[in-house]
Amino acid sequence: MKSLAQETAVLDNALTYAKNYIEGLANSKVNASATLDELRARFLSALPEDGTDACEVIDQLVKDASDGIVGSAGGRFFAYVIGGALPASVAADWLTSVWDQNAAMHASSPAEGVIEEVCGAWLKDVLHLPASASFALTTGSQMAHVVALAAARHALLARVGWDVEKRGLRGAPEVRILTSDQYHGSLERALRILGLGRDALVRLESNEQGKLPFDLLQATLDQKPDVLTVVVLQAGDLNTGVFDNYRELIALAHSRHAWVHIDGAFGLWTAASDVHRYLVEGIDDADSWVTDGHKWLNVPYDCGYVFVADRDAHFGSVSHKESYLARVDSARDPIDWNAEWSRRGRSVATYAALKQLGRSGVADLINRTCRFAGQLVDRIGALDGGEVVWRSEINQGLVRFLDPRPGAGSADHDARTDAVISAVTASGEAFFGGTTWRGQRCMRISVCNWRTTSDDVERTVAAVAQAISSCRG
Ligand SMILES: Cc1ncc(COP(=O)(O)O)c(C=O)c1O
Repeated sequence: MKSLAQETAVLDNALTYAKNYIEGLANSKVNASATLDELRARFLSALPEDGTDACEVIDQLVKDASDGIVGSAGGRFFAYVIGGALPASVAADWLTSVWDQNAAMHASSPAEGVIEEVCGAWLKDVLHLPASASFALTTGSQMAHVVALAAARHALLARVGWDVEKRGLRGAPEVRILTSDQYHGSLERALRILGLGRDALVRLESNEQGKLPFDLLQATLDQKPDVLTVVVLQAGDLNTGVFDNYRELIALAHSRHAWVHIDGAFGLWTAASDVHRYLVEGIDDADSWVTDGHKWLNVPYDCGYVFVADRDAHFGSVSHKESYLARVDSARDPIDWNAEWSRRGRSVATYAALKQLGRSGVADLINRTCRFAGQLVDRIGALDGGEVVWRSEINQGLVRFLDPRPGAGSADHDARTDAVISAVTASGEAFFGGTTWRGQRCMRISVCNWRTTSDDVERTVAAVAQAISSCRG
């Protein structure tokens, strides 16, 4: 880079591309049209010997990547659980890159350190979690589980005099994890990473409503009263949006001295809405909670949050001291609460999102997206051959598509459902994912994006109707 003018020119260049992208979102195709081979052919090459002008790098990057970008930033993307990104949080995220702070310590990023403290307080406030809980900002709920369960492991083993940070797990007393069979796979992966292992996970059969049954949890806890136990409850099942009964399950688990961890990757955000808060009633009695910024809060990737009631257990499991790390008395150093060392100032985008929305804006986002999800489930389910499989109280739902041929069986309905999902997605009008739930193929409907409007709902229903007729033809 030869001059300051050239350095800022590349930012202007990126800004123009970004604006064009955003302005085109409402009418561009939601699916990526480039094939894997095409993308590889464009990007895979030997490392260049010589450099390239920065503006040219960006021009080429946009040219090569554009049709390989999925429109998940737009309002008609309903697959997985993927949020958009609020304008203030995108801009704040850009500035985070320009400032390029190492947010590991207050000393290396004073402003970002304080912004993170504010985010912790605001998040606990808006999510109705105990103000005294410790917190950390992670890459997502996956790593938030790792941090929370490291704290749980620390606390449970400390009770029996086992210092897990010093001695590790070899020869350690058993720790088991009880959860419903509807748990998210990131839980299992956290157990693998922490050395607790997949076998530590006891899957309890959920009831008809998809919840962890009280009696089954009680019987399982009482079968092995002396084993150190973590009970994991769900706040918003990925397929059905179901919530466990926190008040009674947490009281039960605590009466048996278990640690209660909440997977609330998206569902914890219902606490921010007066309309939906009843779903998480009593959840603040748990010991640790995880949720994401990059899902329902609409913060750019990657951003998750973890909260732990026992601050000492949290600090004891991940904090780290080194003589070369400058400490400022009374400052909160993120390195003491995360599994990361050097890190991005992830709090800046979260701060901007919460400030842009305010308490009422967060509530409105939650209420609006839940309403749109309900409309999509009802209206798609009412289309010819459509069937509602699960209409949740929140922003998730399941539908499927029946094969109209006489004598069609479940395999035919599964095939028809997959065919309709593929046809809608190929149309570029809307984007959905599939899932196998209770043995049958379904189309998942997940509405997490602040951009989704009623017009998007109309266009999506029309696109699904069109896909159904094209599959019939
Ligand atoms: C219920 C649940 N828990 C955990 C995760 C993992 O979250 P992340 O992708 O932010 O790591 C997901 C992701 O969709 C989820 O739906």
